[in-house]
Amino acid sequence: MNIAKWPVAGERERELIEMVLNSPQWGGFHEIIGRFEQQFSAYQQCRYGLSTFNGTVSLEMMLQVVGIGAGDEVIVPAISFISTATAVSRSGATPVFVDIEPYSFNLDPGRVAAAITPKTRAILAVHFGGPLCAIDRIAGLAREHELFLFEDAAHAHGSEWSGKRAGSFGLAGSFSFQNGKVLTAGEGGMVTTNDEAFYQQCRSFANQGRQPGASFFHHFTLSSNLRMTALQAAVLVAQLERLDRDIELRRSNEEFIRRELAGIPGLVWQAIPDQVNRRSHYLLLGRIDAKAFGMSRDAFHAHTVERGIPCTPFYPHTLYQNPLYAEGGCRVEPCPVAEACIQDAFWFPHRLLMSERETIEELVFTVKHMAGASQPCV
Ligand SMILES: Cc1ncc(COP(=O)(O)O)c(C=O)c1O
Repeated sequence: MNIAKWPVAGERERELIEMVLNSPQWGGFHEIIGRFEQQFSAYQQCRYGLSTFNGTVSLEMMLQVVGIGAGDEVIVPAISFISTATAVSRSGATPVFVDIEPYSFNLDPGRVAAAITPKTRAILAVHFGGPLCAIDRIAGLAREHELFLFEDAAHAHGSEWSGKRAGSFGLAGSFSFQNGKVLTAGEGGMVTTNDEAFYQQCRSFANQGRQPGASFFHHFTLSSNLRMTALQAAVLVAQLERLDRDIELRRSNEEFIRRELAGIPGLVWQAIPDQVNRRSHYLLLGRIDAKAFGMSRDAFHAHTVERGIPCTPFYPHTLYQNPLYAEGGCRVEPCPVAEACIQDAFWFPHRLLMSERETIEELVFTVKHMAGASQPCV
C-alpha cells in the first residue's frame, strides 16, 4: 500500500536551514529559536514558550522548576510514554498511576479524585493520541485541592477543548517534536505557559542558571543546558507553516475511515469528547473485542501489517508494569481499563492519515474484509 512517508521536508526547511548554516550561530542563541517559540506558543494560545532539545527534558524542567521533589506525589495516567512517569521520578517525587477511561484512553477524573492524598502536589495530564483528556474536570480538581496542573501535550499540537488549545490549561504544558510527532525536527521540545514568572524561571533553568542582563559567565541557580539548536528551530518554523493543512488532511481521512467502518461489531475507535472541537490526529486508536470482531487484537495487528498497513499493537504494558517500576518507586491505583487496553488496543500512526484517499479506501476495504463485513468500499 502506498502509505505516506513521515517526516517530510520541503523547500522551506532547506531555505531556513541554509540561512542558519550561513550564519555564525548554529546553537541555541540564533534569533530563529525565539521566532519559533513565539509562533508555536501563540499557536497553542499561550503567552510564552520555552524551547528545549526534546520533550522529555521539557517535562522534567516543568516539575523541577516549581520545586516538586522527594515526599511529593504526582498523579499520572497508567497509559503513556515512559517520559511522563520518569519526569516525576527524576524530580525525586513519586508517580501515582491512575486508570484511564474505557475508550478515551485518557485519565479518568473520578479515579484522579480518588487518588489525591495530602502528599499530592500535581497532576500531570496526558492528551493521549491527540484529543484532550477531560481537562475541565481535572483542572477543577487541581483548583479544589490546590495542586499544580501540568499537561503532557506531546501528542496534542493544535488540539482544542471548547476552542482552547492544549498547553494553556494548567501552569504549563510540554510538547515534543520528536521524529514521529506531527511537528518535528527529529528531536525537540517546548514548555508553554501563561505565567511570566514561571517562564522566566524555565528560561534560566534551560540556560545554565543565567539571568537576563547578567554576565554570560554568571550562573545563579543549579540548572542545565536544555537549549534547542537553531537547526531544529529552522525545521520547526517551516513545519509549523504546514501544520493546519496537515491536520485538515488527517481530519478528513479519519472521518472517512470512521464513517465507512462504523457499525463493524467489536471495533471501537477512541471516544472523542464533544468539547474536543479540533485535534492533532496524531494516533488513530481503537480497541478490538475479539469475540464480536471475530479476531483477536494480535491477529488484527498481524493481518494489517502483513498487508502493508503500519499498525502498533498498543504498549506491551502499563507504565507501572515496566521493569523500571517493578521494584516500586511508585504508587499504583487499580487500573483495570489500562490493563485491558494492553490486551486489546491498537493504533495507526498519523502518516497513514496523510495518504491519498485511494490508500485510505484500501485500508477500509482490508478492515471490512477482516471483519467479514459488507461489500468493498468504492
Ligand atoms: C506522551 C509523551 N510524552 C513525552 C514524550 C517524550 O518526548 P521526546 O521523545 O521528545 O523526549 C513522548 C514521546 O516521544 C510522548 O509520547
